[in-house]
Amino acid sequence: MSQPEFKELNTTRFHLSDHDAVRWLQSLPAESVDLVITDPPYESLERHRAIGTTTRLKHSKASSNDWFKVFKNERFPDLFKETHRVLKRNTHFYLFCNSETAFDVAVPIAKSIGFTFWKPLIWDKKRMGLGYHYRARYEFVLFFEKGKRKLNHLGIPDIIEAPRIRNGYPTEKPPAVAQLLIEQSTNPGDLIVDPFFGSGSTGVAAISAGRWFAGTDTSPEALKTARKRLDQASKTARVST
Ligand SMILES: C[S@@+](CC[C@H](N)C(=O)[O-])C[C@H]1O[C@@H](n2cnc3c(N)ncnc32)[C@H](O)[C@@H]1O
Repeated sequence: MSQPEFKELNTTRFHLSDHDAVRWLQSLPAESVDLVITDPPYESLERHRAIGTTTRLKHSKASSNDWFKVFKNERFPDLFKETHRVLKRNTHFYLFCNSETAFDVAVPIAKSIGFTFWKPLIWDKKRMGLGYHYRARYEFVLFFEKGKRKLNHLGIPDIIEAPRIRNGYPTEKPPAVAQLLIEQSTNPGDLIVDPFFGSGSTGVAAISAGRWFAGTDTSPEALKTARKRLDQASKTARVST
């Protein structure tokens, strides 16, 4: 089975790109990835932006207090088709997802492309956030499967507790959530991919768990932030082949 040939992986354990998610996935060989964990910027964010409940990218030379771009619902068929293609046989796919997108958009499209949908896991952020109809304390992580793969540990509950990150990159996720998913669905030395890496939380989790990481994000601020965090994580990572 082919593996992507990233020059950087020889020295740094990770590869970061700044290309569009779908185009970048199209450049990877079929059946070359052991796990995809990702967190796209959903179209529904735009509605929240209109009423002022989402955060902006920090001011920087590259982006002057801009929102990051959203990923339109109409692009999900291509995203999931490419995700399915690059995953090896018998692997998992986890998608951070809000309730507005999960059941009407993400699940039906992913199933039509060949994924099995098992269930939404709950990320319990431990503290309330914003909201109008009950304030938000959890987020879904949708659990999909390509083929058949057993979880590594069968005694793990479907509620993952990890405090939300405050004052970080917009919508930054704690690496502890991705690390649990990685330890459930891969082995040391496997390749984890995130095509919307943001601040690089999935990458930090992958490297800390002795796996390899590759991903992309179109925001220059994301690339800068993730590179710094992954360089740091690589220095202290567990060594594996
Ligand atoms: C919800 S954030 C990811 C946050 C990340 N999980 C973290 O913990 O920091 C979504 C990211 O997708 C990026 N993005 C938007 N459109 C994209 C596209 N077409 N391809 C790749 N990345 C994109 C944004 O720049 C943003 O950083």
